[in-house]
Parts: sequence; structure tokens; C-alpha cells
Amino acid sequence: MTDAPAPRPLLHFAPERNWINDPNGLVFHKGRYHLYYQCNPDGVIHDHLSWGHASSTDLVEWDHHPVAIRNDEAGEIYSGSAVVDRGNTSGLGSADAPALVALYTQASKHPNHQAQALAHSVDDGLTWTKYAGNPVLDRGTGEFRDPKVFRYEGPAGSYWVMVAVEATDRQVLLHRSDDLTRWTFLSSFGPERAVDGVWECPDLFPLAVDGDPSDVRWVLLISLNPGGIAGGSGTQYVIGRFDGVTFTADADATGEAIDWLDFGRDCYAGVTFDGLAREDRTLIAWMSNWDYARYLPFTEGTLQHGMMALPRRLSLVRVDGRLRLRQQPITASPGEEQVTQGVLVDAPRAIGELPDAGRITVRIDTQEASGFRLRLNGDSPEGGGVVLAYDRGARRLTLDRRHGADGIHESFGSVESMPVSGGHVIELVIWIDRASVEVFADGGTRVLTDLIAPQQGRVLAVEGIGGEVRVDRIAVAPAG
Ligand code: FRU
Repeated sequence: MTDAPAPRPLLHFAPERNWINDPNGLVFHKGRYHLYYQCNPDGVIHDHLSWGHASSTDLVEWDHHPVAIRNDEAGEIYSGSAVVDRGNTSGLGSADAPALVALYTQASKHPNHQAQALAHSVDDGLTWTKYAGNPVLDRGTGEFRDPKVFRYEGPAGSYWVMVAVEATDRQVLLHRSDDLTRWTFLSSFGPERAVDGVWECPDLFPLAVDGDPSDVRWVLLISLNPGGIAGGSGTQYVIGRFDGVTFTADADATGEAIDWLDFGRDCYAGVTFDGLAREDRTLIAWMSNWDYARYLPFTEGTLQHGMMALPRRLSLVRVDGRLRLRQQPITASPGEEQVTQGVLVDAPRAIGELPDAGRITVRIDTQEASGFRLRLNGDSPEGGGVVLAYDRGARRLTLDRRHGADGIHESFGSVESMPVSGGHVIELVIWIDRASVEVFADGGTRVLTDLIAPQQGRVLAVEGIGGEVRVDRIAVAPAG
């Protein structure tokens, strides 16, 4: 028996204490990334929702700050966003010292009522004052939430746009404002595509296709719960055009109607930073799933504490004639690589030991075999850990995290599956720590994020399926 808590996550943002869920108010301001997040200042359950706060200059090392916006008698402080009010359109700051303005959902349970409210900060995001005229956008409904605000500058003019959801209607509603306090309706999107759950935490932003500034599309992110591709919470994205009033989805090129941001169980409520250049568009998502988030074992200072997935830089790329969102994780530079090259593998074979946290880059040629298995954090080459398998015929990667999952929650022991472009050579970038794995395939256009049961083992092993495979290169590096 040991009383020593397991080490804190090394790769991921985690709060110092208490409950955490969605990222909120992501804004880059004066050289710092501000991350607000759904927190319970008073405990470890999803209750008394308020905005916690941390900031960072590099998205790797975080400074923790006091709770920024607290729940009060008007309701809990649900998810939302923040912008720098350049031009002082709200009158809450000044022309020289623009205020930070947050739009969040004021959520009351008795009676059920959700409306959008405003708070502002004149000390660069540390302390916030709620607006006396709250709520600023009220439809008199009970499931209207998660405002994401951005500045629209385009042919239609220059004004603030808010995307928010009528969650149970599976609708994204767009409103506009000149001063962040008075909002008028523009248009709506949905219900369509993935609708087997409530819609939450939308985001809408432009990206250049293959970096071409003359070919800009808009990406609409919609989290939904349940109904995600891996079960429970998940996020779909829709690529289209936005004319300042209406978002119009592109005609689907391939017939695959739904695009998923992530094929794992634990990437939810992801939204992007305001205040960055178009080519630096960066997403942070909560690394959990409402199927079990409330039931994960909670011990102060341990890994199952609640955390964010790795921040990801987003771009749009054309793959086989179809546009896809590409995600590239942002981390400290990893340490020295241990490299294995040019090894033929049939039966399970240990490739090395994994660090507590780090990166594995993989290039395997399946040759005549039908696929391979990679065992991560195994007890031995044959057992334990999580197993990532490639099935060449099915063109799929699967991640099996059932080992050690008994007793966590009945739906935690799962096997996830992700389509990949296929072929006999597969390249992967995998970030792993004691509590999670994030798999980037097809250059980051396919991503799978899962929490994993705490594992004792450290073995990294490879095994050919239906024949011998060739490890062209596997490199393991500790997190920097
Ligand atoms: C998404 C969500 C949001 C809501 C928040 C409450 O995970 O359900 O829709 O604002 O969490 O904590």
C-alpha cells in the first residue's frame, strides 16, 4: 500500500484542484494564452460551475490564477468565450486599454433557464465584473448556451458575431452585435448530420485551404452528447462558407456525410482561441466524456483528475479531393529519441520502454501481412497496456483500452475505431502518458484521443498480424 499520489499529468493542462470540464474564454492577449475552464471552486463534482483560470506564454507551462467568474444567485457560469474589445465597442474599457469581454451562459436550474450574459475585465483577464444588464441575450428557453463570439470583418461589414446552441433543438444560432451587449438574430444551422445527442459548444472560424489565402473556408465545430462517433460525447465539424449572415455547408464531396474532429472517447467541447492569426488557429478540448466523467475515480493530485487534451493547431488540407481539418499537437520539444530501425517482426517483440510521458513516432511497412499491433504501456510484449492495431484490409486503426478498466466505470472499457487512408506503410505520431493516449494518423487529419486506465507496465511492443511486418522506424522520446 502506498499513500503517495500518482504523478500529475506531465503533458496536459490540469487544474490544481477540483472539478474541471470545458475550456472557456480562450483568448490570446498581450503575449499570453488565457485558458478559462468550467470548474467547481468548492468541490470535485460537476456543480457550482464557475470559470477557473490559467495562462501561459507557450501552451505548455501554465500559471494558475484565482477563480475568474463565480456562480451566484443568478445561476451557474456555464461555457462561453472571451474577446479583446478593441475599439471599445462596449464602452466597458477605453480606447487605449481595451477591456476583455466574456460572454457566458448564465444557467439556472429552478426553473430551468439559460441565457447569455456578459462580464468584463480591465486587468488583462484576472478579475471580472458581471454586467449590470445581464442577461444580454435571452430567448426565454432552458437549453440555450455556450456562446462563442468573434469579430466578423468582411463584405457584409464589421461587427461581432455570436454562435450559440439551442442544445436540444440541435441548432446553432447566429446573432450579431455592434457593442457586445445588444444582439440581433442572423440565422440558424441545423438540425442536420450528427443529431443523436444535444448540440453543445459551437465554434465558427475561417481557415485557408492548403495555406492559400485566396481560398478561405469556414469551419463549424459542433460538440454533441451523446451521439459521438466513439459513443457518448464527440465533436463533428462542417466545412462551408459564411457571408456574415448565414453559414452554408459545402456540398459533400464524397458522400461521407459526417466529419469527426476526433475518433476517440475523450475529446469534447473543443473550441479555439480568439486573437491569433488565421494560420495559428488553435484548439483546446476537454479530455473526457460525459458517459463517465462524473464517475472517474477522483483523488487529489492523481491522473484521473480531469484535464485538457493537447492543444492543437488547426489547418485545412485537401486530401483526395476532399477538405479535411488537420490537427498538429503543441508540446514542448521532446527529449532525445531512442530509435529502432529496419527490424522484421512477426511474433510480439519488445521495442523499448516508454517514458512516463512522451512521443512515439512510427513508420511500419506491413509488407504481405494484414496488419500489426502496437502495445503501449504493456506489462510484457504479450499482455497489458493499451493496444493500437492496424487492419490493412479494413483501412482502420483500433485502440483497445479495456485492460485495467474494470472498476472504473462500465462504459470505460472500450475499443475505438478510426478510418485511415490505408496502404501498406503506416505513419503515426502518438503522444502518451500514464493516463491518456493521443494518436495522430494521416498527417493529423485523423485523430483519436482516449483516457486510459492507469497502467503499471512500460513496455512498447510490436506484433505482425497474419505475417511479418517491417519496422522502418520507431522513435520514442520523453516529453520535453
Ligand atoms: C459541455 C457542457 C456545456 C455547458 C457546460 C456545463 O460539456 O454541457 O454545454 O455549458 O458543459 O458545465
